[in-house]
Amino acid sequence: MENMVDISVEFGRLRLSNPVFTASGTCGYAGELGEFMDLDRLGGFVTKSITAQPRMGNATPRIVETDAGMLNAIGLANIGVERFILEKLPALAKIKAAVFVNVAGETIEEYVAVAQNLANQEAVAGLELNISCPNVAKGGISFGTDPEQVREITSAVKQAAGQKVLMVKLTPNVTDIAVIARAAIDAGADALSLINTFTAMVIDIKERRPVLANRTGGLSGPAIKPIAVYMVNKVYNEAAKERGIPILGMGGIRNASDAIEFMIAGASAVAVGTGSFVEPACAAKIVEGIKKYCADNAIAGVKELVGSLGA
Ligand SMILES: Cc1cc2nc3c(=O)[nH]c(=O)nc-3n(C[C@H](O)[C@H](O)[C@H](O)COP(=O)(O)O)c2cc1C
Repeated sequence: MENMVDISVEFGRLRLSNPVFTASGTCGYAGELGEFMDLDRLGGFVTKSITAQPRMGNATPRIVETDAGMLNAIGLANIGVERFILEKLPALAKIKAAVFVNVAGETIEEYVAVAQNLANQEAVAGLELNISCPNVAKGGISFGTDPEQVREITSAVKQAAGQKVLMVKLTPNVTDIAVIARAAIDAGADALSLINTFTAMVIDIKERRPVLANRTGGLSGPAIKPIAVYMVNKVYNEAAKERGIPILGMGGIRNASDAIEFMIAGASAVAVGTGSFVEPACAAKIVEGIKKYCADNAIAGVKELVGSLGA
């Protein structure tokens, strides 16, 4: 029965074998996860953020566990786009999953430079634009919190990205995420992904100091899931649905039930982040779980679930 279920999804102009992705920054460049899971079982793979130049990232400690999740302040540690293309992309080119490269930077010019380097790489299906970074030229305010800056960066990267699918990753640290979503769509985003982490802090009460060297970090994991589901539904209803823009939903997904919630809320696909740290094969198990849910509930194609939330 489960073999009769069609779990393929359309994601913009891409057709994916299933709706399950890895989330940026939680599975490196694939080599790390490949030891635990057959990456061909994924619908999509998103790399950790890549910048124009290599970055060491923040001082340690840069992760800390919380009651129902974790905080991270990695600071975009990565090997830079040139080494990424030479050393990491050849292995990614071999997997069946659609490969999205997450692009980050401190200025619009830096984002554009990374996108230009990736635009002609055959192994890359799309770019995910991490707009949660501080804009150094604008006093360090995150690009993703200001609709005007979101328009500017999205249209600049869209031009540089050529034929690649451009997915803009939204931060939840805003008053109205639908306003930001509409700005990204108006400026040419082909897809949206949400949510990135919530800015948060953990205090060591003995030292009376923040635990993270960076003081603050981004909260992820099960703690954020109901807020993420709400935001996906809001963006779907108020921005994405009428424009036919697919959403990659994420935030605290650990099992197939979580993934299905996001799809009912309006996500065409889902990504697993923190869940892979707890259980490295989590994403592959979710693919199987979605298949079983569809078979058990007489759902012929998983696409039927997308945006099927009742009143
Ligand atoms: C350790 C860690 C590193 C991350 N690095 C990145 C990153 O480099 N770029 C990015 O856009 N998001 C990054 N994220 C955010 C995740 O991709 C995801 O949006 C967020 O964690 C919510 O999903 P989750 O609750 O399933 O982890 C990172 C998250 C974690 C936990």
